[in-house]
Amino acid sequence: MPQQPQVIYLKDYQVPEFLIEKTDLRFELQADATLVKARLQIRRNPQSLSKNSALVLQGDKDLVLCRVAVNDQVLAEQDYRRSEESLSINDVPDVFVLETVTEIYPDQNTALEGLYRSDGMYCTQCEAEGFRRITFYLDRPDVMSVFTTTIEADKAAYPVLLSNGNPVASGDADGDRHWVTWEDPFPKPAYLFALVAGDLAFIEDRYVTGSGREVTLQIFAAEKDLDKLDYAMISLKKSMRWDEEVYGREYDLDIYMIVAVDFFNMGAMENKGLNIFNTSCVLAHPETTTDAGFQRVEGVVAHEYFHNWSGNRVTCRDWFQLSLKEGFTVFRDAEFSADMNSRTVKRVEDVSLLRTAQFAEDAGPMAHPIRPASFIEISNFYTMTIYEKGAEVVRMIHTLLGAENFRKGSDLYFERHDGQAVTTDDFVQAMEDASGIDLSQFRLWYSQAGTPVIDVSDEYDASQQIYTLILKQRCPATPGQSEKAPFHIPVSVGLLGKSGQDMMLSNGETTQVLELKEAEQRFSFTEIEEKPIPSLLRSFSAPVKLHYGYQRDDLVFLMSHDSDGFNRWEAAQKLGVDILQELIGEYQAGNELVLDNRLTAAYRAVLTDLSLDQAMVSKVLTLPTEAYLSELSDIIDVDAIHAVREFVIKTLAEALSSELIAVYDRCNVSEKYAPDATSIARRALKNLALSYLMKTGKPEQLERALTQFQDADNMTDSMAALALVVHSPYAKAAEVILEQFYLRWKNEPLVVNQWLSVQASNPSKGALNTVKQLMQHESFNMRNPNKVRSLISGFSSLNPVNFHAMDGSGYRFLADQIIELNNLNPQIASRLVTPLTRWKRYPADRQGMMREELQRIMDSGELSRDVFEVVSKSLA
Ligand code: ARG
Ligand code: ZN
Repeated sequence: MPQQPQVIYLKDYQVPEFLIEKTDLRFELQADATLVKARLQIRRNPQSLSKNSALVLQGDKDLVLCRVAVNDQVLAEQDYRRSEESLSINDVPDVFVLETVTEIYPDQNTALEGLYRSDGMYCTQCEAEGFRRITFYLDRPDVMSVFTTTIEADKAAYPVLLSNGNPVASGDADGDRHWVTWEDPFPKPAYLFALVAGDLAFIEDRYVTGSGREVTLQIFAAEKDLDKLDYAMISLKKSMRWDEEVYGREYDLDIYMIVAVDFFNMGAMENKGLNIFNTSCVLAHPETTTDAGFQRVEGVVAHEYFHNWSGNRVTCRDWFQLSLKEGFTVFRDAEFSADMNSRTVKRVEDVSLLRTAQFAEDAGPMAHPIRPASFIEISNFYTMTIYEKGAEVVRMIHTLLGAENFRKGSDLYFERHDGQAVTTDDFVQAMEDASGIDLSQFRLWYSQAGTPVIDVSDEYDASQQIYTLILKQRCPATPGQSEKAPFHIPVSVGLLGKSGQDMMLSNGETTQVLELKEAEQRFSFTEIEEKPIPSLLRSFSAPVKLHYGYQRDDLVFLMSHDSDGFNRWEAAQKLGVDILQELIGEYQAGNELVLDNRLTAAYRAVLTDLSLDQAMVSKVLTLPTEAYLSELSDIIDVDAIHAVREFVIKTLAEALSSELIAVYDRCNVSEKYAPDATSIARRALKNLALSYLMKTGKPEQLERALTQFQDADNMTDSMAALALVVHSPYAKAAEVILEQFYLRWKNEPLVVNQWLSVQASNPSKGALNTVKQLMQHESFNMRNPNKVRSLISGFSSLNPVNFHAMDGSGYRFLADQIIELNNLNPQIASRLVTPLTRWKRYPADRQGMMREELQRIMDSGELSRDVFEVVSKSLA
């Protein structure tokens, strides 16, 4: 029986008993161990109520403590106490210097938290609680200190030595070694500390801030990746300009560095002045990177840059406040991407992700508010809810306040809290104080979990010309919260007349934000001359599920007339959902499937209308995904969902093949690759047309895909063709080009990741065997999170039909991998559990098998806190 890990509660928060004013670190990187010498200037926190408590520092059990001294007095073993996770010293003065020497083993660090080696280079990941794996410290975000860091290492193997802030001294040392000292003048919590040592190449540029300060920009990577750094540099400079223009925020150090590493648990990390990035979020080149990859680089570079203010200058008081920096920063990077590319496309992509992954999380055993009340392992709370729903909550504040008041609020927030560690409530308070708008009920979004549901009905009084919308809200129970109070929800609406025009509303505009605060509320519109068709929740103004009894003809009408681009797409989605759900019922009843020809007609109209926003056409013509259809189901029938969606795609493809061929040819222009919105839209539409055409099963369409594969001069077109052939019944052709593709790209890990993922997500029979074989392939490495994500998550999350195979083989396979990874890398192991946490959503036979695998993980021996938390909550 494994020991029960401890639960940490927000209500137990207390200010730190000690503060660290100055942190001096010296790292001696040796062949198999690293010596960490820390000199901390500590003082009792005058705000702490306990006046003579012992000093308790966090420190991982694997730290080897070599020396402890207080004010230059070396402590004997009876003067301090070492426990599994801490170091305590009694009777310390109110002000003193603590020195420690510890030994750590970065080569054995497979958890990739703290200091570790990735492909021969040293790097760190300290958020959230990784610093305690480096040395003994007050490892909590409300302890902010100025840092000086000296790194000493072999000069030939590690010519580049980096840390936060500015380099202030350097020199040679005995034995072909050298050292560099860095000084970061901005007080920061330990989670923002970073160190890098390696044989790295870099590109350099300059940026002049609005106030005329010059900043050196450097991006580091392995020599062979030097040609893949330009796009990140361009994105960085755009982000810096945007944050000045939109938020009035300037960069504050003389140097900004980004380092690319191949072994990384997450996307990237905003360490002060020294961002560390997963290669997948920084490297970009047309030959190796898809359009989606380019956009990810732009978005993540911006995200980490924006953290310099929303996260670093103003940080979190404790980890329950994580969404303070993450929700706000995701909102900021989403608006940046919207300004750089197509705003509507960006919104569609974000909402799609939210409605599949986040809504599912909010309906499952790990559901939590964006400010959780408790956790066992904070790493488990870097979630869709904290990030994506958190961003939606900030977006709702923006909607309720308006752009101008929101900017006043953010100015006040940054000014009031610069240099502080604060709470989400401080953020809301600043928004309230600056705008004068009451957000007291709105604060429930921070404490209540679950996705609210709004049922909408309407009445039209022709004689009075009054139209009324009746909105009823409810929110399903989530773990620990059976009853919910009504939320304050901004519902953006427009009303369309018969000819498709927007009606003028009482606010003198064509869109109005209704503020839903009661469980049930009526909103009336006067001088409405005909019964309108409502356009509800424009731009997805709140993270809710909204139901209104649209007729299919209404949806077709909205698809072509709604002035809100997002809702035109939404109408197409709703039409698709309605038709697919009905067909799923027919399929389950064993009836013949017949497609409603209104969908075909609507798709034909969109395909042939050149006046439409081309960036949106491929989005509108993409049927609701299997993941979204699953999320909408009470009981998920994976096979029916897959079969019916395939049927609809094939039927549409056959009926529209001449139009699709025309679109393909029109978009198949040869031009120099550029990752701009217009060219991205053209490639997306071309590849969408190809995906339909492939489903006709006509040999000439296979030829078309193979020609595109052979002729492509960019990864977007090449990968799209590869995926379509691999996921088709043409197994022989697939085998040939998979082999060809691998031989061409085997030295590009990020391309190989996609090659793995395409095979793992193949819905054809036999995918699990392929995955098992690929785990033995030279390109696979269980210690590399990108490889695990591509192959194992590629199977468990992107291949529902095979993962949910009725013989239970998919579940068994996943559980085996989780058990193995639990020791190697708990964070990655814990993420892999997600598909199994959803067991209650499946039919009884599958439920039983999924539960059994969760139980098998539970009983498999000593579990990490990470895996224990997710598995035990799923079984509860
Ligand atoms: N703060 C990083 C970001 O930009 C993510 C760090 C994730 N760390 C973790 N241990 N899960 O979003
Ligand atoms: Zn972030």
